[in-house]
Amino acid sequence: MSATLITNIAELTTQDPERRVLADAAVVLDGDRIAWIGPAAAAPAADEAYDAAGRAALPGWVDSHTHLVFAGDRSAEFEARMAGREYAAGGIAVTTDATRAAGDYELTRLLLGRVAEAVAGGTTYLETKTGYGLSVEEESRHARIASTVADQVTYLGAHLVPARADADEYTDLVCGGMLAAVLPYVSWADVFCERGAFTEEQSRRVLDACRRAGLGLRVHGNQLGPGPGVRLAVEFGAASVDHVNHLDDDDVAALAGSWSGWDPAAARGARGTVATCLPACDLSTRQPLAPGRRLVDAGVEIALASNCNPGTSYTTSMNFCVATAVLQMRLTVDEAVRAATFGGALALGVQDSVGSLEVGKRADLQLLNAPSATHLAYRPGMPLTGAVWRAGVRHG
Ligand code: NIG
Repeated sequence: MSATLITNIAELTTQDPERRVLADAAVVLDGDRIAWIGPAAAAPAADEAYDAAGRAALPGWVDSHTHLVFAGDRSAEFEARMAGREYAAGGIAVTTDATRAAGDYELTRLLLGRVAEAVAGGTTYLETKTGYGLSVEEESRHARIASTVADQVTYLGAHLVPARADADEYTDLVCGGMLAAVLPYVSWADVFCERGAFTEEQSRRVLDACRRAGLGLRVHGNQLGPGPGVRLAVEFGAASVDHVNHLDDDDVAALAGSWSGWDPAAARGARGTVATCLPACDLSTRQPLAPGRRLVDAGVEIALASNCNPGTSYTTSMNFCVATAVLQMRLTVDEAVRAATFGGALALGVQDSVGSLEVGKRADLQLLNAPSATHLAYRPGMPLTGAVWRAGVRHG
């Protein structure tokens, strides 16, 4: 691969530890790495030059929470919700039936299409989960398919207890034979700790078994009401707890406490549990928005993610999540961009290689069709993503 100089960048948002924003900047990509960052006037020569024509550049989005391995459509459920019906975890079963009925080729085709859509929207690194299989064969098939496409895969056998199954026996399976079957394909485990899904005691068993199997942990917690998910995640040292819509003071204190040895300005020290906010899901399920402002003010590192899935958030648009976080969650543009890049990388444990523009990191970068990152919220809903480089390969 040759070196590419991207020059004439009006505003370069690095999200490096100093959170530098450079005007009139340039970046050199060498193969799949960032080789140089600095003033355009001082840029070294490269094999190719790309004129950013006065646009803004920022790190590619890191989408740390998606459920992309699925077939079928739940627009009727969405319509009923918009007419007043509450979201309930049971809808997962509808997607499970449709996904089990889809062959490998079809599931892979659907997954590739969704990833391509995400990349076109500026996402350069993404996680996806199992959780619509809910049997040993199907969970391991979905994990295998996901592992051929996504950057990281999370095991979510504990998404819903299948109809007619005994909850405790199913939890044993999630912790035993199902875990063994998915292990070659996944690096993380998750549990939906919520009413209608898994109890605190069942969630503990899942987290404990998956940790003993060597997987990193995350939790779907406090989405539909107050509950033990956040505190469980902190107790288990999970890398993230996702949703976090219904938090009390103790939940916020537990999350903040997990970051007490961390220096956010240097992005160094003992890391805690990232609170992953999913604003597109919050709007689609009419839940209170995750309290992003309160979490940031308490010293918690947060991530923004799309949660793309057919039930609660059928979008891969990180631009939409960033705009909503600014307009509705009261984050600054810089905080929202950090949460959607470095925050996601922290949630996935890859902050040393992606999530900010720094020499030596992966060449994951996007150009906006606008002169500054502020336009992401200033012009919500507009097609602002221009060119995207993912591991040095240009898309768009
Ligand atoms: O993250 N909360 C649990 N899981 C998904 C929804 C899955 C579904 O309803 O299909 C979520 O929102």
